[in-house]
Amino acid sequence: MSKTDNTKGYETKTINWYPGHMAKAKKMMQESIKLIDVVVEILDARIPLSSKNPDIDELAKGKYRVLLLNKSDMADEKKTAIWKKYYEDKGFFVSIVNSKTGAGVKATTEVIQKACQEKIERDRKKGILARPLRAMIAGIPNSGKSTFINSFAGKACTKTGNKPGVTIGKQWIRINKNVELLDTPGILWPKFEDQKIGLHIAFIGSINDDILYPEDMALELIKILMKDYPLVLKERYDIDVSEENGKALEILEMIGQKRGCLKKGAEIDLLKASKILIDDFRTQKLGRITLEMPE
Ligand code: G4P
Repeated sequence: MSKTDNTKGYETKTINWYPGHMAKAKKMMQESIKLIDVVVEILDARIPLSSKNPDIDELAKGKYRVLLLNKSDMADEKKTAIWKKYYEDKGFFVSIVNSKTGAGVKATTEVIQKACQEKIERDRKKGILARPLRAMIAGIPNSGKSTFINSFAGKACTKTGNKPGVTIGKQWIRINKNVELLDTPGILWPKFEDQKIGLHIAFIGSINDDILYPEDMALELIKILMKDYPLVLKERYDIDVSEENGKALEILEMIGQKRGCLKKGAEIDLLKASKILIDDFRTQKLGRITLEMPE
């Protein structure tokens, strides 16, 4: 399926993407969820809405919920604070982390304990003391699940192996006396009902680049940057992003021109220009950017 963009006839295409291992991953999560107290869902702080899979609400019914706004070093600090409050208002326990450096990672234990307070109290009344809370990490591909687990577990962690009487093959990592982590994270698939969500997920590299349309991504990125970060475009590419030059396609052409992306006959190579812009975003050359705000 495809539709035509109103700007100079460039054709925007729909991302047709169906992950092969979706059923298997979902089954693994369904099996694991019975064993855990709390689901820790990792979001990409640059797209806190698109990186959240609504299916997990059903899957994690009855479990305590923690959200981690990961990759906070790449996102707009002020906007991350707004998202934190937004999700807290919805009843989640939220933490801002950078799994790469470990900033905020240790504090996750405390957040998990807060989220599970009711269970801790219940156990205490029954005379059960200091039983570690069991957590599962979940998130869409590339949100940082493995990086977070490695950082959270650190070097000193011990794998507790299979628990007798519990599902065979499940490994637990003892983080500290309060928390145990299932060592296989739950993979959630992003939702693609909205083309915009698909593009946002593509920006952060959660979809294989081979199936993407870089020009569509670049045009969407430019629209967001023009609205929320106009100076970034101006400064990085030395282009005029005033009202008159307001069309995304024209901005992309200007980027192409400035960067010498030309085809034979001096026609601008939009694909090449798009790839430059996307790469600059991914490698943080455009600075710290959050692509979404709560409605
Ligand atoms: P996944 O298990 O959810 O699929 O994600 P994974 O941990 O593999 O992380 C995906 C990429 O995101 C990795 O980069 C990882 O280093 C990076 N990453 C994870 N958390 C953070 C964070 O908080 N901040 C930043 N800046 N990056 C983070 P990569 O390019 O695939 O690998 P590498 O560059 O680390 O070798």
